[in-house]
Amino acid sequence: MTMVSEDIQTLEAQHVLQTYRRQPVTFVRGQGVRLYDVDGREYIDLLSGIGVAALGYGHEGLTNAIADQARTLLHTSNLFYHPLQGQLASRLTTLSGLERAFFCNSGTEANEACLKFARRYWHTLGETRTEIIALEESFHGRTMGSLSVTSDEHYRTPFEPLLPGVKWISATKPQAVLEAVTSRTAAIILEPIQGEGGVRPLTPAFAAAVNEASQKTGALIIADEVQSGCGRTGYPFYSAAIGLKPHLMALGKALGAGVPVGAALVSSEVATKIMAGDHGTTYGGNLLACRAALCFIDELVGGGLLSHVGQIGAHFDRRLKELQAKHACIKDVRGAGVMRGLELDRDAAAIVPAGLKHGVVVNRTAENVIRLLPPYVISEADLDEGLARLDRALTDITA
Ligand SMILES: Cc1ncc(COP(=O)(O)O)c(C=O)c1O
Repeated sequence: MTMVSEDIQTLEAQHVLQTYRRQPVTFVRGQGVRLYDVDGREYIDLLSGIGVAALGYGHEGLTNAIADQARTLLHTSNLFYHPLQGQLASRLTTLSGLERAFFCNSGTEANEACLKFARRYWHTLGETRTEIIALEESFHGRTMGSLSVTSDEHYRTPFEPLLPGVKWISATKPQAVLEAVTSRTAAIILEPIQGEGGVRPLTPAFAAAVNEASQKTGALIIADEVQSGCGRTGYPFYSAAIGLKPHLMALGKALGAGVPVGAALVSSEVATKIMAGDHGTTYGGNLLACRAALCFIDELVGGGLLSHVGQIGAHFDRRLKELQAKHACIKDVRGAGVMRGLELDRDAAAIVPAGLKHGVVVNRTAENVIRLLPPYVISEADLDEGLARLDRALTDITA
């Protein structure tokens, strides 16, 4: 099986900074929920480029919108108006209940923006509140601010010192948040479903404790919905599903359906404390990014994709429980919609190459969790076929 041509590997080995451990496969084409490698082998994609390709591959509406925008105008910078940024902000604020949007290019930038806006909020109010509360098992990105609130020591240690004043609490103890928040806490940052940390949904009881702590002390709530947001769970944002009431929200991944788009959404209370010149980015919210995101939101809301995710999510849950009944190595099935995790009784690293061998793309996270983030558009038949392949891969790794 040669899934990667030697010249591709050699060129990368010589010139690309070796920060990634790649699987030995080169994808060259996609259609629907299927990817094809250089040798023409077909794979069912249950990962969508880590939660990005919500509309799958070669989606006609998205492809046409991108091509049309590329012909018309790609980028003008944030020095000028263009017709699409306000439209996208209006769609996102309507969906989220927050009032204003700032656009950037990735999930980590969205979190950086939220952290900066939280600091700016307290600065404007004339208070020195810089402490941040973050959760164990969290992941918010690789830039210095987001990394400072990401718990994994492997990611953090080589880059210390990071931002000071971060306090860590366990997501399983609602009382802990009430005890940790003080009058010096600027914000509490959390993922409504911890993705990289092993697909761990926060409970409504934990969300209620966060809301209560915020109400008591004024600490702002930052919901990192980069992975759990934009419809992936069958809700527009998973915060709403658990009753969390954020003042700021970070978005990325599926928002551009493959075109890099990030956004920080803020409440009007926060928005009034942010001044012109406080934050900015050259590319953020350019025409191409906004056009792709608008196309995605149209499909999600107007095109019925959100209700499809709800339906396919219920089917997904049933099928994963059947898989659990069959494979004793599956200890737990977690998640919502098309964001699912299978916790194994062992390291799950072997599932990735075994999956590729059987023609299915999956991911392993938090050592022992198989993470599944298929495109939202996946049909029951394709999901069943993908899971049949995963079933065979599980048999291989436990044999
Ligand atoms: C919850 C969450 N926040 C932030 C990020 C960082 O996003 P990006 O890789 O686009 O910077 C990720 C990426 O996996 C994520 O899952």
